[in-house]
Amino acid sequence: MTRERFKLLSAVHLFLIREGQVLLLRRYNTGYEDGNYSVVAGHLDGEEEVRAAMAREAREEVGIKVAPQALQVVGVMHRRSDDERIDFFLTATTWSGQVANREPQRCDRLAWYDLDGLPQNVIPYVRQALENYRRGVWFDSFGWPSPSTTPPFHIRPLGDEDREWAAQLVATRWGAEEIVTRGAIHHVRRLPGFVAVAEDERVGLLTYHLTGKACQIVSLDSLWPGIGVGSALIQAARGAAQQAGCQRLWLITTNDNLETLGFYQRRGFALVAVHRDALAVARRLKPEIPLVGERGIPLRDEIELEIIL
Ligand SMILES: CC(C)(COP(=O)(O)OP(=O)(O)OC[C@H]1O[C@@H](n2cnc3c(N)ncnc32)[C@H](O)[C@@H]1OP(=O)(O)O)[C@@H](O)C(=O)NCCC(=O)NCCS
Repeated sequence: MTRERFKLLSAVHLFLIREGQVLLLRRYNTGYEDGNYSVVAGHLDGEEEVRAAMAREAREEVGIKVAPQALQVVGVMHRRSDDERIDFFLTATTWSGQVANREPQRCDRLAWYDLDGLPQNVIPYVRQALENYRRGVWFDSFGWPSPSTTPPFHIRPLGDEDREWAAQLVATRWGAEEIVTRGAIHHVRRLPGFVAVAEDERVGLLTYHLTGKACQIVSLDSLWPGIGVGSALIQAARGAAQQAGCQRLWLITTNDNLETLGFYQRRGFALVAVHRDALAVARRLKPEIPLVGERGIPLRDEIELEIIL
């Protein structure tokens, strides 16, 4: 016996663009969103490729001929309303024939509107799709409950029970369990820090070093990138630094770590110094430091970033 698979409805929508304006169609007597604007649109009938379906709808609804090559898929939306569906959004800027209302029994007005000046009564998901198009966002979902805003992990101070794990993590990711920056050796086993934990699994580590009025982030590693672990660990370090009366939170990264330079700056850190050839000094203390870093970039300089607290 074969299992009946879940089936989705699917529709195509056309953003017909002329001099920065999009063609809107006001729905009339259809039983769905009447009086509100949509775009040229229709369901996939099956056995019909997306662009062929779009060309068919354009011909049926506004009487124009659009070559499949002139149609570009610019957006996909997973939408939930009374049913569940996948909507495709396509654009065309060239076509032949005059745009005219070919379905007056279902549409009582055609109008061109600026993409940044749409009327109030555009069907909400169509408005969102047009906005996505303007911003270059190709995928979105609509009508679903918003995902939980509670992060799937929590942050706690690094405890004695974490030390072995922390040392091994740093050794694996940074070549040895000691970290050398500005000519000083930091023993990760002895540093305070924070751990990110998700369902009993450790998914991130930050260690820091307090000296007088400054707090240095010595190491930061996320094992679950892209869900906020790194940012939350920095927040925790910031809080610890403030509590300790520090005026400055700072760190060192290396000249090859371009992604991370962007990451830190997006979190408020400013570049304050380039310590040229500092890695030559560091290598004397930690020979494991390679000569070549990320993306084949020679590993040479220490870059200092800070946040004034
Ligand atoms: C740098 C590093 C620590 C970042 O950790 P992370 O856990 O990925 O950090 P976050 O998840 O907080 O942020 C990463 C990106 O994910 C995005 N993000 C965070 N939470 C998100 C969420 N819930 N949904 C979607 N995106 C999210 C952030 O916006 C961020 O992107 P942005 O910098 O363009 O704004 C991690 O990449 C890493 O371990 N790198 C290797 C070690 C390293 O270089 N450490 C620094 C040494 S100086």
